[in-house]
Amino acid sequence: MSEADTKLYQPDAETAKSAYVAGMEAYQALVAEAEADYEGYWGRLAKELLSWKQPFTQVLDSSNAPFFKWFADGKLNASYNCLDRNVENGKGDKTAIIFEADGGEVTKVTYKDLLERTCRLANALKAQGVKKGDRVVIYIAMSIDGVAAMQACARIGATHSVVFGGFSAQSLRDRIEDTGAKLIITADHQVRGGKQLPLKAIVDEALSLGGCDSVQKVLVVKRSGAGVAMTEGRDVWMDEALAGQDAVCEPEWVEAEHPLFLLYTSGSTGKPKGVQHSTGGYLLHAALTTKWTFDLKDDDVFWCTADIGWVTGHTYITYGPLALGGTEIVFEGVPTYPDAGRFWKMIQDHKVTVFYTAPTAIRSLIKAAESNEAVHPKSYDLSSLRILGSVGEPINPAAWEWYHQHVGGGRCPIVDTFWQTETGGHMITPLPGATPLVPGSCTLPFPGIQAAVVDETGKEVPWGQGGILVVKKPWPSMIRTIWGDPERFKKSYYPEDFKGQLYLAGDGAIRDAKTGYFTITGRIDDVLNVSGHRMGTMEIESALVSCTELVAEAAVVGRPDDTTGEAICAFVVLKRPRPSGDEAKAIAKQLRDHIAKEIGPIAKPKDIRFGDNLPKTRSGKIMRRLLRSVAKNEAVTQDTSTLENPAILDQLGQAY
Ligand code: WT7
Repeated sequence: MSEADTKLYQPDAETAKSAYVAGMEAYQALVAEAEADYEGYWGRLAKELLSWKQPFTQVLDSSNAPFFKWFADGKLNASYNCLDRNVENGKGDKTAIIFEADGGEVTKVTYKDLLERTCRLANALKAQGVKKGDRVVIYIAMSIDGVAAMQACARIGATHSVVFGGFSAQSLRDRIEDTGAKLIITADHQVRGGKQLPLKAIVDEALSLGGCDSVQKVLVVKRSGAGVAMTEGRDVWMDEALAGQDAVCEPEWVEAEHPLFLLYTSGSTGKPKGVQHSTGGYLLHAALTTKWTFDLKDDDVFWCTADIGWVTGHTYITYGPLALGGTEIVFEGVPTYPDAGRFWKMIQDHKVTVFYTAPTAIRSLIKAAESNEAVHPKSYDLSSLRILGSVGEPINPAAWEWYHQHVGGGRCPIVDTFWQTETGGHMITPLPGATPLVPGSCTLPFPGIQAAVVDETGKEVPWGQGGILVVKKPWPSMIRTIWGDPERFKKSYYPEDFKGQLYLAGDGAIRDAKTGYFTITGRIDDVLNVSGHRMGTMEIESALVSCTELVAEAAVVGRPDDTTGEAICAFVVLKRPRPSGDEAKAIAKQLRDHIAKEIGPIAKPKDIRFGDNLPKTRSGKIMRRLLRSVAKNEAVTQDTSTLENPAILDQLGQAY
């Protein structure tokens, strides 16, 4: 794109004047401050944004790099910072959470309510034997209880690990085993899109698969009341566990580096990794990015539509907005129930001012709105909105423009926030009152974050040239390690190729030749992004080949998809002759169900192709780049001279 067709959207006058970071000079001043005195900058912000029980004397400890420590001799408590201090500052009666259930019922809780609920839950956890340093797995849907459960863990220094409610029993089991959790918090059911789905039964199944001997208790929230099996001595109804618990619980003051949570995410190998986050550095960036990227003010109503099972829900539901004493929406349901106008109706009903969602949701709502005026944003009053956000995957310019025009009424800046589970919070993002916007670009690094685009040797490439996205300096909310596997942490994020000096994000990027703006060009490893859900191709391949009665070999690649961003395409060699027609359809269904059981429905391939073999080099290596072309139904233009069996490409190109 030439300079002339790059359309810049300037911040609106109102936001540019009143924002915490007002104007590009203000942004540049912060960048300069961090450059001049990196530790001084982060130290200043850590004192301003967080309340410390014991102040820190050292900001950054690099003595054991890349295992960096931030504010290490300081002590604090995350739940104190999110709850008590707001009550102490006169916000006790302010609404903390507006919860809207799947069916539309609304429940509001104030900061005082949420503090009491968290304290009773924290006391209940203690009564069940949970102590500082123990792990607690949380497998629950979007709910006030879910947020309170995370806060309660933080309050007593237990490390939580939330598992998204869409993961299967097998995936849940793997995570329970890896964390060595002592206790699980779940609910009888979850309700989404008018349907009641099991949670407790999946926990039972996970525990029955073995390897979960660490688990002593399961606390069960009653959501449906529809009745579930309870195991004597192990399972306890939350109501009973809470009965008689005191509404006051002294926070456990933990060291800043104390692990606040583990969150599992996919990498390029089969086994998901437990990303470990700290208390102090993480909370600082959660609060700071919520403040600057969303310009969150006292009278805002903030809505992040992510699930607490993902990092976005951790940082921008459970921690960031509450640390700032904000008011936020927690939504149990799905964007398309009872119809695809649900988001717009909720924005209208609750007068949401800052709205943060994923491109995949926007794209599917565009489709719905185009065929049904009643669910088009123009049929709702969205005038309360002032800032829009996007997260999880690249937002294509057409979706950006629609979001800007139809949801934001052409008035609201869109912050396209690039970050990852590992980064804890925003890394590259516009600031709404400062950064001129370009659709499809996440623009510039958050002040203090030193992002760069480099070549394979770690040397910065000129603007205008694509390369590998890295971060040059450690930052407070960075991943601390992979739980139980520090070597994998080093290898994955501080590889030898870069002499262990640069954080490797795993994404490609390019900076605009004129403005230096970043555009993310997608993962450079075997990680897919389907509807904003991150999945490893190897993980899906392992799930396929674990169907031992059917599958001999499998290879999985991603393919661009208009709605989901990327779609999963699996190439499968069966242990029986290559099927066609109805038989192929039936086997494909069987394989999809198998994957849903092994990982979860989100990992089901959109496309399954059967072959007598896979395209391999003479040394037996599967040539995935060829499979990517086949998946796109493109003619293979790459060099196939090293291919052992070129004819296989034609066969795999055919749908059954
Ligand atoms: C991967 C991280 C960000 C929290 C939720 C997902 C992709 C994320 C953007 C964006 C382009 C993006 C990257 C990244 N990604 N945000 N604004 N533009 N790509 O966290 O599951 O750890 O996934 O999502 O590929 O590496 P995650």
